[in-house]
Amino acid sequence: MVQTYHQLRLDLSAALALFLDPLEAHAECIRWLEDGLGHSRSWLAAHGTDPVPTEARRRVSAWVRRRRKGEPWAYILGWTLFRDRRFKVTPDTLIPRSETDLLVEAALDVGRRLKVDRSVDVGTGSGIIAVSLALETDWQVTASDLSPAALSVARGNASMLGAVIQFHGGSLLDTIPDPLGLVVANLPYVDPADQPTLQRELAFEPASALFAPDRGLALTAALLAQARARQAPACLLEIGAGQGGELCRRALSLGWHKALVHQDLAGHDRLLVALA
Ligand SMILES: C[S@@+](CC[C@H](N)C(=O)[O-])C[C@H]1O[C@@H](n2cnc3c(N)ncnc32)[C@H](O)[C@@H]1O
Repeated sequence: MVQTYHQLRLDLSAALALFLDPLEAHAECIRWLEDGLGHSRSWLAAHGTDPVPTEARRRVSAWVRRRRKGEPWAYILGWTLFRDRRFKVTPDTLIPRSETDLLVEAALDVGRRLKVDRSVDVGTGSGIIAVSLALETDWQVTASDLSPAALSVARGNASMLGAVIQFHGGSLLDTIPDPLGLVVANLPYVDPADQPTLQRELAFEPASALFAPDRGLALTAALLAQARARQAPACLLEIGAGQGGELCRRALSLGWHKALVHQDLAGHDRLLVALA
């Protein structure tokens, strides 16, 4: 039977609503048609009665099968937007989250106030933070990641978006030369004990990008220590809900002059700013 675009939209919304809540299903359906099939809303409005080519129907059915198993849409599509730029993502990289925009905005603000001329993004993943800073400032930007596969995706994104970044493989700041400048990081901060309660989509993302020992605090605390010892003027970290108090205390005991916690729109601790 011939399926029209109008019917495809209804069928797809219904198929997604079997495992997503209705609002999410509707929003995803639109994204699939726009980003996946490349048809804008106005095109769809004008072509609702056109038949959907067999190839497009096959692609959508294959996406539904993968999505039903919990695979995130960004991995199926192969890219996602961050600060209006398109970043390639693969199962080797965390899928960028909109909350990380807070970290980038704070880094731009603190970096400008401190008049830094360089910055390092630790645990760069797909490169969203380093690329944003490189394209939105005149700073010299370096980035590191422990995962060679993630670094290769970040390098590809930087080159695709025209960002000049020095990439270094290695743990935390180990392979980053002095002087550091502003240290910025969205490192793994999820408590491994929370794993059984997490959304099933997270099982598709690399565990090495999500979890950290010591209730999720080990890597952020280690970076605060390294950055302080190597005289960074400031260290900005994305953090997990409820981690602000303890990380502030640790930052102050490491010799940072000030440590401030910022909350996200949901009122959860999301950002730690440590100032020398
Ligand atoms: C939460 S993801 C963040 C990725 C990206 N910065 C973003 O905001 O989307 C954390 C990243 O840190 C990397 N990572 C984990 N342990 C690390 C370490 N000890 N040193 C450097 N990078 C590390 C992971 O490979 C992963 O790419």
